[in-house]
Amino acid sequence: MEEAKESMTKAKGFGGYCVAAFEARFAQEMAKLINTHGGKPMVAPAMAEVPLGQNVSAFDFAEKLFRNEIAINVFMTGVGTRTLFEVLETRYAKEHLVEALKRTALVARGPKPVSVLRSYGLFPNVVVPEPNTWRELLETIESSECCPALASATLALQEYGVPNSELLQELRKRGVKVLQVPVYRWALPEDTAPLSEAVRRLIAGDCQVALFTNAMQVSHLFQVAGQGSGEALREALRRVVVGSVGPVCSQALRELGVQVDLEPQHPKMGQLVAEAAAQVHTLLKAKNTARDASARMDVGVNGYGEPARHGKASTVVDKLEDSAFMRACRRLPTSHTPIWLMRQAGRYMPEYRAIRAKNSFLDLCKNSDLAAEVTVTAAHRLGADAAIIFADILLIVEPMGLGLRFEKGDGPSIDGAIRSQADVGRLREVEPEESLGYVFDAVRKTRAGLRSDIPLIGFAGAPFTLASYIVEGGASKNYRHTKGLMYREPSAWHAMMSSIARSLVKYLNGQIAAGAQAVQLFDSWVGCLGPDDYREFVLPYTRQVIEGVKPGVPVINFSTGTSSYLELVSAAGGDVIGVDWRIDLGEAWSRIGPDKGIQGNLDPLVLFAEQVTIKERVQQLLARAAGRHGYIFNLGHGILPETPVDNVLALVDTVHEWRHS
Ligand code: CP3
Repeated sequence: MEEAKESMTKAKGFGGYCVAAFEARFAQEMAKLINTHGGKPMVAPAMAEVPLGQNVSAFDFAEKLFRNEIAINVFMTGVGTRTLFEVLETRYAKEHLVEALKRTALVARGPKPVSVLRSYGLFPNVVVPEPNTWRELLETIESSECCPALASATLALQEYGVPNSELLQELRKRGVKVLQVPVYRWALPEDTAPLSEAVRRLIAGDCQVALFTNAMQVSHLFQVAGQGSGEALREALRRVVVGSVGPVCSQALRELGVQVDLEPQHPKMGQLVAEAAAQVHTLLKAKNTARDASARMDVGVNGYGEPARHGKASTVVDKLEDSAFMRACRRLPTSHTPIWLMRQAGRYMPEYRAIRAKNSFLDLCKNSDLAAEVTVTAAHRLGADAAIIFADILLIVEPMGLGLRFEKGDGPSIDGAIRSQADVGRLREVEPEESLGYVFDAVRKTRAGLRSDIPLIGFAGAPFTLASYIVEGGASKNYRHTKGLMYREPSAWHAMMSSIARSLVKYLNGQIAAGAQAVQLFDSWVGCLGPDDYREFVLPYTRQVIEGVKPGVPVINFSTGTSSYLELVSAAGGDVIGVDWRIDLGEAWSRIGPDKGIQGNLDPLVLFAEQVTIKERVQQLLARAAGRHGYIFNLGHGILPETPVDNVLALVDTVHEWRHS
């Protein structure tokens, strides 16, 4: 019984993978945790604690301080400041230190060193404002009356971790005598053989997971790899699932060019191991498909439909793959929540209205230069994280053999509606290269004009929504004809849906071949059905389309009014499920399942509120997303034409400013 339970956990968890970890103090506990979750631990402690009394440069600093040889003291970090005091207190009386420091100008780089200084009864003369980089630091010192003229002063700089070379250089340029005061709590372990072995095995491809529980471990691992193997180690880490305990550690990884795949909900070792075990298989799969996709692009054709030149194209592809939107589609961590908006290129935007005033809507769609211009302008103007190709879900009905018109104020209308088995017989299957080549041209031109880090989304109507237009001949209130055909002539219905699905697969893959990075299916009107009808008459065809999309390209499955059977929508497929605003985001996610991303959820009408209200509602929604990987901000349906542009811009800013704490 126990054994059966244990083998279940193993099958579900790491499944026998080798898991590298670098935890030092709790190395044994780490190995045990990995074991419990079904992994083979390879724990190589990357740090050794340095006794406080061995911090030689700290004592040297204190001697100079007591001899009044230091004019300015700069405290860079909270941990460093505290450690420095702890080191010095092993030799000198606290009061003596505090008195000596009071005779100098004290500079704190941010709130953390301030609070440590305060706890010693010291009040900094200068506090560097946000974002607390070396630039603000220099500016503040230079303009402060409390600090003596820099050119002749001796400045002591407390350092914790890697020295800031830019700051040092700038200070020296100004003639400052800098005394670097590195303080250590952790150094490389005396015996670095286990670490070297870990580097070797990672490079050999023996491990599938690498877990970091502290930022220092990252720099130590690369230090041991040295110049000879640093690049190979970076490359090796691209192939494994990289887990980081929290934001500081992730930052250290990113600075060394390592992509972080997973950060736990709470920055705890146990949580990191448990979440890595739960997600390892999905993450590895996503990593492999992403890499395969860029490898294919590298040797085949690039995003512009031209042969790729080695090296150059791969950076273009990497930039797109590394974008917040693409990473969110693959449920990887992102620096911010990506946002784009359905109908972002539309009548609410004056730039669109200006072009539209001189062209009919259909002419605009069919003129690939104008369509590209409209797409690029909207994405850049908004600062959106993705663009959607300017087209319409109904363009495909023309090559199916039906007439399409957009008449002012009336919405679309379709001639030759399909209402019977005989009508279905005359429905043509689409060869999009011939009949929708203008959309593919627009995709190519848009890709060429769009910022190289903004992915382009291709799209199509989902089978049901298209069918509803084809059968009704336009918009509908109750879908009388559509449901009539479904119930009266189910075999005609199935034949029609199947034909539409085949056309859609070709159309979407054509957009991908022309340069789209992801695709979205719009099932705007499927919410008029109940769950049983969705399951029987719709789900198999939506699934057929999604399964037909080129592997590795993310699919967003969007619908409205489907809250009551979201599980079924999710079962039809898609890497990301687009939802409307009629359901709580948390509930939607729990019903969709943890292995899919989620997009949308803001009522488009919120954009008619005061900006403070918009901000509040957006922040509420982001808080609900709770920093989960795989959330893409969007409205629950398209922006209305009357929406004030400024409110849309404020929305984008609010999303971009948000950081999950
Ligand atoms: O910016 C983007 O989102 C890309 C372009 C885009 C349009 N239509 C342009 C458009 C996209 C993705 C669509 C999808 C679309 N088209 C859907 C699914 C999304 C949804 O809103 O539910 C549907 C149902 C259609 C069909 C359609 N096209 C209708 C019902 C209408 C008339 C209603 C309206 O908003 O005017 C259109 C016309 C249309 N498609 C416009 C735009 C910018 C407005 C036409 C104009 O400029 O006069």
